[in-house]
Amino acid sequence: MRVLVVGSGGREAALVWALHTSPSIDRLCCAPGSAGIARLAERVPISVDDIDGLVDHAVAERYDLVVVGPEAPLCAGLSDRLRSHGIDVFGPSAAAAELEGSKAFSKEFMARHDIPTAGFKVFTEADAALAYLRDPGTRYPLVVKADGLAAGKGVILADTADEACAAAADMLDGGAFGDAGRRVVIEDRLVGREVSFFVLSDGSRYVELATCQDYKRALDGDAGNNTGGMGCYSPSVYLDAETRRTIREKVIEPTIRGMAEEGRAYRGVLYTGLMLTEQGPQVLEYNARFGDPETQVLMPRLDGDWLPLLQACARGSLEGVEPRWKDEAAVCVVMAAGGYPGSYEKGTAIAGLNDAEGQPGVIVYHAGTDGGDEEGWKTAGGRVLGVTATGATLADARDRAYAAVERIRWDAEHHRTDIALDAIKRDA
Ligand code: AMP
Ligand code: GLY
Repeated sequence: MRVLVVGSGGREAALVWALHTSPSIDRLCCAPGSAGIARLAERVPISVDDIDGLVDHAVAERYDLVVVGPEAPLCAGLSDRLRSHGIDVFGPSAAAAELEGSKAFSKEFMARHDIPTAGFKVFTEADAALAYLRDPGTRYPLVVKADGLAAGKGVILADTADEACAAAADMLDGGAFGDAGRRVVIEDRLVGREVSFFVLSDGSRYVELATCQDYKRALDGDAGNNTGGMGCYSPSVYLDAETRRTIREKVIEPTIRGMAEEGRAYRGVLYTGLMLTEQGPQVLEYNARFGDPETQVLMPRLDGDWLPLLQACARGSLEGVEPRWKDEAAVCVVMAAGGYPGSYEKGTAIAGLNDAEGQPGVIVYHAGTDGGDEEGWKTAGGRVLGVTATGATLADARDRAYAAVERIRWDAEHHRTDIALDAIKRDA
């Protein structure tokens, strides 16, 4: 089989890592991939926003399956275009990816299908938004969100009307986030523990994936700015069987059913971010893709081959498919360039990679590197490496991951030192 993975970050490095050992694949390519990914897959120099280029390439090379990593090409209709050429695609159609691509759509969808989420209002005019935000009846704190894709930056947690008005005016009048900010969602602030929930769906059926927990803030103790994710672990200690059942019944099933009813059957991975509140789980957001770095811990935990699972989703044939998970935990620590998620340097030499990769149970995913084994590896992004380890327990996996992190060095490297620590303390 010929398989193309679309993307170039840590998530795609993990997908390629998982697929490269699949016995059914004889050609594995990645567009555009990266120097790190090139160790396991053939690189195809086409960027993720070149939809025409990707479609032409996929048709010419007759791929049997295309696995789309990031949200932007999904929202731009890559899956629809490939399917129209008879190519199997893991990744939802543009209409289904709107669950991530438009927060207004996703909130209104949840309201239509009684899916628990924070109360909200949608605005396209700054005057109306500011009048609402200044209304004495409006309760604070609240959250102002750009409607469209904003690379995780379009969410402003506002404690006061001044902050909220500034954010809304910036988006609706100031052009912040471009088209993505022409509509805003203003919603109530939820309080509780944030968890992620992943299922694979073929449009009508779904299977639950292993649970994981990510760490979004830049600094230890959940301080500092929001990032794409500074680390994660699996399985999550915060999602017991009862909570998972509630999430499946109140959120996942109505979502899959509702999307099918609305003619937007959802095929691919549905990643739901939830807040566990005193009133039960409430949806914060949907994502139409795998999480990054959650994929880095999910991939090694599957007991078996990922290919048939992804293929079954793509073909609408999940019936009878039941993934099995290893009885092992996994921990991923993201090593980032100093300054991330703000500005940071690129091109800094990385030392100790081979040593770290040789440690037991360790996989080092390249998220933002350049160079190679011969000329030496250099940093080329904000999140540079996802240092992941599996182990018999969460504590073992964590020790192994940090032992590997200790062996890797570069100037101004930054990582959190407390990934999975709360989970281990809680279970002790
Ligand atoms: P989103 O991209 O919508 O998930 O928002 C990014 C982050 O903002 C989430 O991971 C939460 O930490 C936070 N957030 C979003 N919506 C809310 C909300 N209604 N209440 C509290 N926190 C929120
Ligand atoms: N780790 C968060 C995300 O992938 O959106």
